[in-house]
Amino acid sequence: MPLNPLKKILDVTLPPKSHSYKILIEPGSLNQLEKVLQDYITPGFGKILMITDTHVSSFLGQPLLAQLKSAGFETYLYTIPEGEGSKSLATAENIFSFALDIGLSRKDVMIALGGGVVGDLTGFCAATYFRGVPYFQIPTTLLAQVDSSVGGKVAVNFSTAKNGIGAFYQPQAVIIDTDILAHLPLKQLQAGLGEVVKYCFIENTCTGTTGFFNFLNTAANASDSPSSDNHSFSLAHLMPKFPEIVETCCQIKAQVVIQDEKEESGIRSFLNLGHTFAHAYEEITQYKAFTHGEAVVLGIAKACQLSEQLGILPHSETQKFQSLCQSLGLGITPPETLAPTLEPLQLLRLMKKDKKASGGFIRFILPIHQIGEVTIRDDIPDEVLLSIL
Ligand SMILES: NC(=O)c1ccc[n+]([C@@H]2O[C@H](COP(=O)([O-])OP(=O)(O)OC[C@H]3O[C@@H](n4cnc5c(N)ncnc54)[C@H](O)[C@@H]3O)[C@@H](O)[C@H]2O)c1
Ligand SMILES: [Zn+2]
Repeated sequence: MPLNPLKKILDVTLPPKSHSYKILIEPGSLNQLEKVLQDYITPGFGKILMITDTHVSSFLGQPLLAQLKSAGFETYLYTIPEGEGSKSLATAENIFSFALDIGLSRKDVMIALGGGVVGDLTGFCAATYFRGVPYFQIPTTLLAQVDSSVGGKVAVNFSTAKNGIGAFYQPQAVIIDTDILAHLPLKQLQAGLGEVVKYCFIENTCTGTTGFFNFLNTAANASDSPSSDNHSFSLAHLMPKFPEIVETCCQIKAQVVIQDEKEESGIRSFLNLGHTFAHAYEEITQYKAFTHGEAVVLGIAKACQLSEQLGILPHSETQKFQSLCQSLGLGITPPETLAPTLEPLQLLRLMKKDKKASGGFIRFILPIHQIGEVTIRDDIPDEVLLSIL
């Protein structure tokens, strides 16, 4: 079989070295999952418990189950209802019961096959079942491929605390097949693109490299028939670019995680660009009005506005961001109909409650100089915030 020219393998080398793992990015890799697993799995392992959601199960989980079984792997599939509601202790308990029933031990492995919900939940189960079993991430949404599958943050939601109960638990490997994104509805693709745009803004500060914004901008505008008409809007022309887009995002995230695995030294907080605003938008609308990625884009737009007001970002950079968002069909202002809900004082209250607020001041990651560079600020007066909210 000829080498796939798009195949990429990134290294996430964490101290201690035993935590190191690979991120494999290769279109079509799932067609040969059994071979890929053999490369990454510890010899002598027994069973595979693959966890997925109802939607992904139908077109991918069932075929992969058959594929692994016919390759001689003792494989079990556990399917959770799709959606954020499944990221709960109750679902985790069901998975633990199933794992016990099939006799899963620490010699066996779990596989997360799906978006961030399946990834976070499976990682949480793997971290805690028998004090930890090895697991693999096979992310199938763009958001999961560029963000949630890398970095080892695993969790379930608890009461009012999103991701309230969790751990840092790194996978054995992350296996990314970008071809699978062809199944993704436009809205989910755009949700992932929100995080992709974020990486453009933090690239230089995190890795010392530049060029991702220009690459993405060129790719976004490469369509022969750009359209602002919602009915015909398509991002199909981006598909061939996804291996490179996903690779760059994973490279940036891996660099950050290697330096600050548990968000202690502050570098990992750069990944929160736009998120302080985003979490407030999501919470005030009870997680019903925006996908996470949509809220992140609104948050980055607010961060640009704030940077401009502080005189640390030229307006021309904000305009570049706005034009990219337009090409990708990403909204940079909330719909008018939500104006009564997005009450500035309430948003400010929620931002102060966010875990990044300390001592009454909110910690912001803000774009500075040009797209690619960010800085941390925790000295923004409430009046300034209220003026932009
Ligand atoms: N751990 C982290 O570092 C981290 C980072 C960011 C987000 N997250 C978490 O990720 C979750 C959101 O992840 P998400 O956006 O992937 O949502 P999701 O897992 O709910 O997936 C979105 C939808 O896409 C469907 N889907 C998945 N793959 C598909 C495919 N290839 N084709 C068609 N449909 C497909 C799913 O069935 C689901 O309905 C949140 O719970 C968030 O907290 C975690
Ligand atoms: Zn995010």
